[in-house]
Amino acid sequence: MIIEKKWAICIFLLFFLNCLSVLNAQQSMIDYKVDSVLRLMTLDEKIGQLNQYNDDHLVTGPVTIDKDKATQIRQGQVGSLLNCIGTARTKKWQAIAMQSRLKIPLLFGQDVIHGFKTTFPIPLAEAASWDLEAIKLSAHIAATEAAASGIHWTFAPMVDIARDPRWGRIMEGAGEDPYLGSLIAKARVNGFQGKELGDTDAVMACVKHFAAYGAAIGGRDYNSVDMSDRQLWEVYLPPFKAAAEAGAATFMNAFNDLNGIPATGNAYLQRTILKGKWGFKGFIVSDWGSIGEMIDHGTVKNGYEAALSAITAGNDMDMESRSYKNNLAQLVKDHKVDIRLVDESVSRILRKKFELGLFEDPYKFCNPIREQKALNNPNHANAARQMAAKSIVLLKNENQLLPLSKNTKTIAFIGPLVKSLKQNKGFWDVEVPGVDSNFIVSQWEGIKHKLNATSTLLYAKGCDIEGDDKTGFPEAIKIATEADVVILSIGERRDMSGEAKSRSNINIPGVQEELLKALLATGKPVVVLINAGRPLVFNYTADNAPAILYTWWLGSEAGNAIADVIFGDYNPSAKLPVTFPRTVGQIPIYYSHFNTGRPVINDSNHLYKSAYNDLSILPKYEFGYGLSYTKFNYSHLQLSTHKMKASEQIELSVTITNTGKYTGEEVVQLYLRDRVGSIVRPVEELKDFIKIKLNPNESRQVRFVINKEKLSFYNKNLEWVAEPGEFDLMIGASSADIRLKDSFELVN
Ligand code: NOJ
Repeated sequence: MIIEKKWAICIFLLFFLNCLSVLNAQQSMIDYKVDSVLRLMTLDEKIGQLNQYNDDHLVTGPVTIDKDKATQIRQGQVGSLLNCIGTARTKKWQAIAMQSRLKIPLLFGQDVIHGFKTTFPIPLAEAASWDLEAIKLSAHIAATEAAASGIHWTFAPMVDIARDPRWGRIMEGAGEDPYLGSLIAKARVNGFQGKELGDTDAVMACVKHFAAYGAAIGGRDYNSVDMSDRQLWEVYLPPFKAAAEAGAATFMNAFNDLNGIPATGNAYLQRTILKGKWGFKGFIVSDWGSIGEMIDHGTVKNGYEAALSAITAGNDMDMESRSYKNNLAQLVKDHKVDIRLVDESVSRILRKKFELGLFEDPYKFCNPIREQKALNNPNHANAARQMAAKSIVLLKNENQLLPLSKNTKTIAFIGPLVKSLKQNKGFWDVEVPGVDSNFIVSQWEGIKHKLNATSTLLYAKGCDIEGDDKTGFPEAIKIATEADVVILSIGERRDMSGEAKSRSNINIPGVQEELLKALLATGKPVVVLINAGRPLVFNYTADNAPAILYTWWLGSEAGNAIADVIFGDYNPSAKLPVTFPRTVGQIPIYYSHFNTGRPVINDSNHLYKSAYNDLSILPKYEFGYGLSYTKFNYSHLQLSTHKMKASEQIELSVTITNTGKYTGEEVVQLYLRDRVGSIVRPVEELKDFIKIKLNPNESRQVRFVINKEKLSFYNKNLEWVAEPGEFDLMIGASSADIRLKDSFELVN
């Protein structure tokens, strides 16, 4: 037996080494090819590879009109286009690139943020699922559709930690937590990139925005960021690091300055950290125009200095600013930029073009038959529906109002979002040419399909999303009084969160909460659906409505997914990936804060404490919060030991029991607190979680492992260390709903 085992290990090792050497051989072959192309290129052709233009039919930034794009491509002056969708269009541009002297193929990049034709929930909503496999699948389906439509490269995932819901781009990330954010970053990179670059169901990921863009002061988009190195390393960089380790092909830098240095011209971020410490081998693209914007930041005088700053700092490709195109050649001639810097950037880009297989077949992603098939794959809608249901957070459910019975006699479905189609897609959807909005399942259709034939569904709009017009109230109240139950769908417009959509007021807009008040006055039970791209403030609703579902923007299957949850075909399992404040005055608010020297012990006593005099210290809904139609009991927390050395680990187990009537999923969350550190440690930090599904009365033991890595942090020299001492261990259903506690010690 032992001999057999040894043989098995030997065979495995040989196989492994063989795979490694094949990979190495492939890589060195690519390096060889890159070098040979590089040697043929003129300086202008090299600079062309670093130049990315917008194709004019879609716009995601301030446009510069170029009448002669085709000529420039033909002359080898453009390496990549963004916003160019569809096999017909990409093929047309690629054919022009094939007329250039060296026939270097173009790269087509696109913001495929949450789906392509099939729109999945906005990324923040998906993060609420805490379901890494589902998130990966969502990214993979998006990649499959995009790649079939000619796209090589998505500008996603956005992995910026965001703790300020005024910032419109909070919708595009995974929320506030570096641990959850890192796992989701990895899942998304793996989903987009699939098994291997070059597969026709995969696109290159572009991890953005490097770095700290989510911490824009005051939540104002494009604003400055001022932060300590420790916070940068501890909170904002981990998801980027996780994405780089997952093999992300490209990174995008950011619009913001970080401590006075624009991210685009920031050598510490790009050269020291990303390409240096992390050994990143892909390429970095600027954000739209961000090289030129360094002039407005005030760190450079003109385009010449901007290009110098960006290339020196490690920025490889110039998205839309034309700074490289207009200045790099002169910079090289003036000996300000060493040609080796240009060569390095060009090589990084060419390598990806080789890895994608574009040199062998520039039209590899331009197959119209594959495009049609991928864009009409019914499995994609099904996956989007499941992902959407998993993203809905049940915030409140008094007296088990939900789930509703499919036999409910009369339901009044009210609100400005009930019948809309496109609103459900949220910001950063993709306008696929030739595809209209008819394939989106409205909330109305979703509920209607689910109800039994004997039931009646009544509709009134009630009011608009914005404005103070209440003329629709009487009709809404009338149908509410005729119904057994009311469903009210309110929230933001889809374009109220997203890029350049920061808001100082994040209350539910208009008279929507007044409409709720009028409906509640009828005495009918009201289920509220809140559609939004960020945590909104909705205290009246939270305190008065008996049932609330936070539905975010759920994508093309929104209506079906909402109906699945409302009628109990899917038991909600999502948990908030971000803290919901009571008022904007509490922002920034996040669960893993420091204790301070004057912590509030009792929320009714704020005297000489770190608190506001006019506001609770607690959020409205905490990180990790979300209800289910069933209940879970936590018991039997057991630790394998209460003392561990750094070389050891603690195994712990806890028993979860479904004590309610419905099958359901629970996200069991593990938090730690380092009691005493050389640097202040947060009051709690998420260190692990597991999502499990249990039938009624079923119990399961779940296990976690605590090792040195989970106890480590950056000390004052920014070294990653675990310091001996006591740790509190908390197992909970949210960051505030801690069900079981223990403590242990890390010993020398
Ligand atoms: C600007 C955005 O910040 C970035 O995320 C996006 O990828 C580019 N525009 C291209 O649309």
